[in-house]
Amino acid sequence: MRTYLVTGGAGFIGSNYIHYMFKKYGDDIRIINVDVLTYAGNLENLKAVENRDNYTFVRADICDKEAIAKIFAENDIDRVVHFAAESHVDRSIANPEVFVQTNVLGTAVMLNCAKAAWENADGTFKEGKKFLHVSTDEVYGSLPDDENAFFYETTPYDPHSPYSASKASSDMLVKAYMDTYKFPANITNCSNNYGPYQFPEKFIPLMINNALNGKKLPVYGDGKNVRDWLYVEDHAKAIDMVQEQGKLFETYNIGGHNEKQNIQILNIILDTLQEMLPEGDPRKELVSKDLITYVEDRKGHDRRYAIAPDKIKAEIGWEPETMFKEGIRKTIQWYFENEDWMKNATSGDYQKYYEAMYSNK
Ligand code: NAD
Ligand code: TYD
Repeated sequence: MRTYLVTGGAGFIGSNYIHYMFKKYGDDIRIINVDVLTYAGNLENLKAVENRDNYTFVRADICDKEAIAKIFAENDIDRVVHFAAESHVDRSIANPEVFVQTNVLGTAVMLNCAKAAWENADGTFKEGKKFLHVSTDEVYGSLPDDENAFFYETTPYDPHSPYSASKASSDMLVKAYMDTYKFPANITNCSNNYGPYQFPEKFIPLMINNALNGKKLPVYGDGKNVRDWLYVEDHAKAIDMVQEQGKLFETYNIGGHNEKQNIQILNIILDTLQEMLPEGDPRKELVSKDLITYVEDRKGHDRRYAIAPDKIKAEIGWEPETMFKEGIRKTIQWYFENEDWMKNATSGDYQKYYEAMYSNK
């Protein structure tokens, strides 16, 4: 039975990955989820799995060497899937240091502890051990408004935000471990994800939540920045396929071929909300395109991201499965059915964050 150490499993993608893995492998794997539970970590995301005998939650900081080394000492870990990170660009602009701390130092601790646990006396590594570093396409910088321009695995790194710079640094550390020690790892660089359990500071859940509450919909700049949106379960599947079928030491880009301007996404969300809300539901009156408000642009705002997922398709056979029309309906349905989740996520500290972040916009 393979034992997985998943970091950041209480966050958006990590929790979806854990659900995906238990759906796929059932009792044939064991998962240890290490998460310090920042504002973005929520154990409610894992209610459906928390009582499984093959699931363990450990509250620990990935920067805490002793805590992480202890997990490796007490368990024979076969796979590390490293999601834990500070993940929001706007927060990185306001407060970059914690991004360096968690994303760079935290990754160094994870690499070092895995290396210490997996290394043989002669410097080779125990058979079958694998580390997967989950990263972003934002490390490649920004593409021009040209629909034939894409990010490839060979595209030079050119990060602009403190978030993407910290993720680029963490990718470089993983590369350095692979090059220096032949440390058994892969890196995946994925485009923007959407789906259940996404914290409402990110574009899609923020817009769904604001629209349902009749609140303004703050669009940065001219609204024509392009992102390549991928349904989160497709990302979870790709991570598993890369780890089991990919070539060690390789990077794989994961993307949806679903490039859309922010304003297009927002219009689809508003139309879909109108379609899905039943007649007589008071929220139907609130959801309106009149709420769209163009606000001051994000500093250093990357114009366009787009992945060409040719390598992962050719070598591993992965392709995105969920079309945006279907994925956005599933996502909205999930938020309809999980109003309490949204209320908990948007109360308290989030309220303060939202007021501070959007007060001048
Ligand atoms: P998230 O912010 O929703 O979750 C991050 C999780 O990491 C939270 O549960 C948080 O508590 C935990 N965490 C943060 N600091 C920690 C620390 N010091 N020690 C232990 N746990 C800590 O993020 P997400 O959107 O799920 O992203 C997960 C990973 O995927 C990140 O590495 C991110 O860079 C990458 N990624 C995200 C996207 C996207 O669209 N969201 C796209 C590509 C790649
Ligand atoms: P976001 O979800 O923060 O992801 P990222 O910046 O990592 O791509 O933002 C997605 C896009 O939406 C990005 O171009 C910024 C834009 N955006 C808005 O226009 N308004 C908002 O309130 C937010 C949060 C984002």
